[in-house]
Amino acid sequence: MTQDEMKFDVAQAALKYVVKNTIIGVGTGSTANFFIDALATMKDDIIGAVASSVATAERLESHGIKVFDLNEVESISVYIDGADESDDGLNLIKGGGGALTREKIVAAVADSFVCIADESKLVGVMGEFPLPVEVIPMAANYVKRIIEKDIGGQAILRDFTTDNGNHILDIQGLKITDAKALETKLDGIVGVVTNGLFANRGANVLLLGTPNGVKVVSA
Ligand code: 5RP
Repeated sequence: MTQDEMKFDVAQAALKYVVKNTIIGVGTGSTANFFIDALATMKDDIIGAVASSVATAERLESHGIKVFDLNEVESISVYIDGADESDDGLNLIKGGGGALTREKIVAAVADSFVCIADESKLVGVMGEFPLPVEVIPMAANYVKRIIEKDIGGQAILRDFTTDNGNHILDIQGLKITDAKALETKLDGIVGVVTNGLFANRGANVLLLGTPNGVKVVSA
């Protein structure tokens, strides 16, 4: 079974978590794209969606799914999105696609977070995937120096501009044993917009695509 087939399967499985007659949150990336395509089959069952990126908004709209600005909505029933890594406590690294800040905002508003991923994303200790940190452009070099001095690893500037007009530093070489503490510490550095650890608000459910079917992991 290919990785794409596993992503397809978890996207289909996530439909069960869509709360009818509500507004849902939708993430960004290749797994989220499979989910958006699956969601199109039940688009008349939901009021609409809040998107975590411009790309996701465009894909939702291409299927005729109504996209709401977050400021227009009072609540989001469920947020469905992929991840770059997860540990078995359902702490996540996200932001490989650069949408981490909007993803984290939509996840914060949502009543629950269903993460969808193929089995390669579940790891013992997170950090092999470089941890993204969105920074205000003028602060990039300052934040890089502070990270390398106070946290460790190597912070590499990605050749990328986020939907918010900011830059991303990818921290390589971390072994993340206390995700909540690291998330909080990184957010405390002046110039950091947000970081790709989703631990203080991790996933509630992880749907993992495996060659033997979709495995459900709960926090
Ligand atoms: C984008 C993300 C994605 O969810 C993450 O990168 C996983 O992507 P994919 O489903 O393509 O493997 O956080 O910012």
